[in-house]
Amino acid sequence: MKQYSISPDGEKFQLPEPNDYAGEFERIEDRAREQRELGREIVVVMGVGFVGAVMAAVVADTEDESGNPTKFVIGMQRPSTRSYWKIHMLNRGLPPVQAEDPEVAPMIHRCVNEKKSLIATFTYDALKLADVVVVDVQCDYLKESLGNVRDGRTDMYALEKSLEIIAEHISPETLVLIETTVAPGTTEQVAYPIMRKVFRRRGFEKDPLLAHSFERVMPGKHYVASIRDFWRVCSGINDEAAKRVEKFLKEVINTKEFPMTVLDRPIESETAKIIENSFRATILAFLDEWSLFAERNGVDLIKVLEAIRVRPTHSNIIFPGPGIGGYCLPKDGGLGVWAYRHIHGFEDDIFKITPLAIDINDTRALHVAQLTRDALRNMSRPLAAAEILLLGASYREDVGDTRYSGSELIVRRLTEMGAELRVHDPYVQHWWEIEKQDEYPSSTHSLKRFFRSQDKLSDLRVKQDLKQALNGTDAVIFAVRHKNYLDLSPDNVVEMAGWPLAIIDCFGILDDNKIKRYFELGCEVKGLGRGHVKRIKDQVRAEREKMLMALSDKNGPDSVTKKT
Ligand SMILES: NC(=O)c1ccc[n+]([C@@H]2O[C@H](COP(=O)([O-])OP(=O)(O)OC[C@H]3O[C@@H](n4cnc5c(N)ncnc54)[C@H](O)[C@@H]3O)[C@@H](O)[C@H]2O)c1
Repeated sequence: MKQYSISPDGEKFQLPEPNDYAGEFERIEDRAREQRELGREIVVVMGVGFVGAVMAAVVADTEDESGNPTKFVIGMQRPSTRSYWKIHMLNRGLPPVQAEDPEVAPMIHRCVNEKKSLIATFTYDALKLADVVVVDVQCDYLKESLGNVRDGRTDMYALEKSLEIIAEHISPETLVLIETTVAPGTTEQVAYPIMRKVFRRRGFEKDPLLAHSFERVMPGKHYVASIRDFWRVCSGINDEAAKRVEKFLKEVINTKEFPMTVLDRPIESETAKIIENSFRATILAFLDEWSLFAERNGVDLIKVLEAIRVRPTHSNIIFPGPGIGGYCLPKDGGLGVWAYRHIHGFEDDIFKITPLAIDINDTRALHVAQLTRDALRNMSRPLAAAEILLLGASYREDVGDTRYSGSELIVRRLTEMGAELRVHDPYVQHWWEIEKQDEYPSSTHSLKRFFRSQDKLSDLRVKQDLKQALNGTDAVIFAVRHKNYLDLSPDNVVEMAGWPLAIIDCFGILDDNKIKRYFELGCEVKGLGRGHVKRIKDQVRAEREKMLMALSDKNGPDSVTKKT
């Protein structure tokens, strides 16, 4: 039976059939031969997802002093129904990832159509042509419970499979650079034995030239710069691999302005990545308890953090919003905790802070459902059957990446509590984790399984028209700091909704003037870490009472009843 891969725009691509492979390899081989004659190094980037697609373009954009490309890049993507369309996008010179960085699309266009230094393919045989292979496939951490990262495991299947395939195809002189975020110890204790075994079977005495250098890519406005113009850490499995990886990265990354750190062993660079992200997850999680403290004691945590941030030693203290999403922060600490036992064989449990931080971050969003319930209750409207609009599905501002976003948990919890959800996000056309909840992130690991009554969410579609989305809603949740939401005026929101509604601010989006205005318009306001809203509410109520008293004194008590 023919199988198809469908792009986010709805274009259908038939997956290759066995007899398509020989022709595809001929096409790639011819191009590679021409390029080698021009003195260009052949680089295969395995996995053209969020990271690999842009890394492939950064490498393909490398030039010598006369402006000639020095690398020819082949983006290699397995032809799965979920990802095969990416090959066609890339070969047309279009980015296979939605990127808000204005540099991404022109760079891919330039490399594919002008410099002719970038192509994409589905055939693993392309690996035979490589001088360097950059591995950017995923390495997941699968959690079995909500809010308990210890109850989970690293899923290295895609990575292990990729390494085996690479070893079966490459020459022993090929440098294999693992950029995937891995459990510390993976390069030496998982990748090396897999590849060495295949090398021995192929009759190679030489050990695989393995290196590790993690990505610090930040999806968003500075996507390209976060790969190319950023500090790198790298390491090799032996001296030859270390020299080769240092040379390669110095050629493709802007290490002149952003110096590179070379560590002694891959486990050190792997650990650097995991600590870096665990540190960030921890400073965010630590504020969850202070956020609750603030809500219950009349404190505006947003202003408190601003006051603290002026101190240079504390300038990176950040408000956590409705949970910490994205592909990396929710899983990376788990990779480390798991590695301690399952790669390094220790039986004791040394980890306290790292797993706790992830568990706190993974469940923080659930509190938003409580705030929504309470705000509606204060307006004498039941949450069950209320129409609730969530503004923002992605995990951070001004990006379209929805992986593990706090918004997903908000939608799921409110749905099981009986509310009717609507979603608006200017950056997200399809919220796959919701629309295709039986397949995303995989058939067994949708967050759906932790909640009841989720089936109807498959019909939820992300709205692009804010006015239409707001019309008739009982509550609106500001979940993400997208720039479109920062300037919304309370008068407009209430007008578009058609009546006063509950407003939930998850990210310090509303200043005090706006909060006050919402109360004046008859709305109810609540916010994560925003305990001071009660004070503003009391102030508005007192002002209103004063005004009514004045009116009553002037025109008699009847005038007040009539006016109100
Ligand atoms: N996304 C980020 O913001 C970010 C930031 C820093 C580091 N990282 C790390 O980078 C790595 C890649 O992340 P991503 O976001 O690009 O993931 P992704 O899921 O978007 O991309 C992985 C790609 O690899 C492909 N793939 C899997 N097996 C393959 C195989 N055998 N052959 C060819 N292709 C194969 C998949 O189909 C997919 O397209 C992860 O380890 C991640 O933790 C990601």
